[in-house]
Amino acid sequence: MLEIRNVSVIYDPKTIFKKEALINVSLKIGYGELISIVGKIGSGKSTLIQLFNGLIKPDQGNVFLNGIDINEGNVPRKEIIKKIGIVFQYPEEQFFAETVFDEIAFGPRNLGQNDVKVKESVLYSLETMGFNVSEIIERSPFHLSGGEKRRIAIASVLAMRPDVIVLDEPAAGMDYEGKMSIVTQVRKQIEKGMTVVFVTHDMDEAFYLSDRLIALDKGYVVFDGPSKDFFQNEPLVNKIGLEIPFTISFRKKLLKCFPDIPFSKDIDSLIEFLSVRLSH
Ligand SMILES: Nc1ncnc2c1ncn2[C@@H]1O[C@H](COP(=O)(O)OP(=O)(O)O)[C@@H](O)[C@H]1O
Ligand SMILES: [Mg+2]
Repeated sequence: MLEIRNVSVIYDPKTIFKKEALINVSLKIGYGELISIVGKIGSGKSTLIQLFNGLIKPDQGNVFLNGIDINEGNVPRKEIIKKIGIVFQYPEEQFFAETVFDEIAFGPRNLGQNDVKVKESVLYSLETMGFNVSEIIERSPFHLSGGEKRRIAIASVLAMRPDVIVLDEPAAGMDYEGKMSIVTQVRKQIEKGMTVVFVTHDMDEAFYLSDRLIALDKGYVVFDGPSKDFFQNEPLVNKIGLEIPFTISFRKKLLKCFPDIPFSKDIDSLIEFLSVRLSH
């Protein structure tokens, strides 16, 4: 559905600040996929996702949406934004409306939906993000907790019912509880069959949430495949400055005593295995 082909992005070319943020990147994203994009700070993650909806234009290469080059003049921006929803880093900094309703209604209204449809979209996205609708809808988005603000920001993108939702570090700066509530809601989107692209430098989140993982290092794609395979390649993970998820390093330690411990994405099933084993 979405294809990035041989793309390079250079910031401030022809100046001493010239920065090659992406170098000859190619990848394809299909329907219903669940992908993490990982890499150290400055590796090019945010640049890459801004190519997805045309916010950044490549200096070389092409971006195709359903086979059409989105940077070739006559693709209406609304059509792209409708299909590819991006929740940027610290999205709550962009709040502007006086009520949660108006904040979330902005996107659907912009797409030309009528009042009935707008309301339906707002209610749908609030419910999807786990809110008690009547309790939240007339409140000021500025006066919510950090986790609530983040979920409202995600809801405002979901309200446009995109085919792909891209979340740039959605849990950054959150405490554990806030993080878990975001991660849980993101998981729900995945269960609904939406394509989710999850950008993070937290490897626990990346491993827990995604099937496919794309790793960036200094603007290059250095891995694109099953997240399990990535994390089993410890030299690569270390080389690009990332960490092995806790679940994997914990299991590795347990292997000495329990050679048959299964590979698992979540800590709960490791604990379950241990409790069964230790109760015998
Ligand atoms: N608007 C910009 N102008 C100049 N350089 C930028 C800009 N945005 C990002 N960069 C540089 O491009 C590189 C990649 O940045 P970015 O895509 O934001 O990485 P990440 O999201 O992985 O932290 C970094 O070296 C960053 O400093
Ligand atoms: Mg970034």
